[in-house]
Amino acid sequence: MTASSKITITRPDDWHLHVRDGNYLSSVLGDTAKRFARAVIMPNLSDPITSTDLASEYRDRIINALPAEYKLSFDPLMTLYLTNRTKASEIKKARESGFVHAVKWYPAGATTNSDKGVSDIVACYDVLETMAEEDMPLLVHGEVTDPTVDVFDREKVFIEQFLEAIIKNFPTLKIVFEHITTEQAVSLVESASDNVAATITAHHMLLNRNALFKGGIRPHHYCLPVLKRESHRKALVKAATSGNKKFFLGTDSAPHTRASKENACGCAGIYTSHGGIEFYAEIFDKADALDKLEAFASFHGPDFYGLPRNKDKITLARKKTEIADTITFGDETCVPLRAGGHLNWSID
Ligand code: NCD
Ligand code: ZN
Repeated sequence: MTASSKITITRPDDWHLHVRDGNYLSSVLGDTAKRFARAVIMPNLSDPITSTDLASEYRDRIINALPAEYKLSFDPLMTLYLTNRTKASEIKKARESGFVHAVKWYPAGATTNSDKGVSDIVACYDVLETMAEEDMPLLVHGEVTDPTVDVFDREKVFIEQFLEAIIKNFPTLKIVFEHITTEQAVSLVESASDNVAATITAHHMLLNRNALFKGGIRPHHYCLPVLKRESHRKALVKAATSGNKKFFLGTDSAPHTRASKENACGCAGIYTSHGGIEFYAEIFDKADALDKLEAFASFHGPDFYGLPRNKDKITLARKKTEIADTITFGDETCVPLRAGGHLNWSID
């Protein structure tokens, strides 16, 4: 093993990110813009981003909230929130806009702010057809919402009940299976055509489900899809570090206030943007695959989306930096992943 303690890579992008809205934006955007040139912005606001016009306004709010030094260097890639009522004409408008890059399918009730999502995907088939024609990727939160299905099986069952059929019925539609958490999801993506890819978070590769219950219940490790058992975590690391172009970086950093996490009914979502690339460097280093980090973080995503790769570089060093106990989040606070601990890799 080469114990290289520094690595320079093309500046990465985050292909799955939640930045919220209002005065929360400026609390979190700097962490992302410091590391990434672009991020795919999830549309699941409490009033979801269901149209190109709403995406345009949201994009302006994001750019306004960026720290001055990143206003020109960071590009938010906007998405639309698919509903039962989304029209094919809206997809065409989104494609023409140049700033909407994908459409997100949240099964209604699957996760944070998904209640206005899709209750019947078959009713959206004409829209999916138009998306395929317009080369507009479908981003999928791949979990069934049936309360009788065990929460740890919801991704696997989603593949069997929905995703296999969508892939078969829309062979030319680009699909990103977001934040995959199981070996079944890895296998599906590997065996599908080049139109099917997946994002993988750092937290699903760093933690298994024991982290939810270590010494007591750990609300800051609760996210959706929920953490899975160790064999699945290993399958994700293997996929991410394999060099396969179908897998790329998506943090799914999802900040919530401390009060809404430390709660009798705590929200799902983990904030990781403070180590948005550093956590991945740690994972790839541990897997002895640092040479595969650049392609996963900086090449596979833009290649799939048909966007240019970034030109500038960043350098990461195997050097510890402290992680704060909390970050400011609007008028409140948010507890970041590994709060009070260390990043083992740092931006040089
Ligand atoms: C996300 C959020 O909070 O918006 N939560 C999460 O646990 N990942 C929504 C999502 O991506 O499921
Ligand atoms: Zn998400």
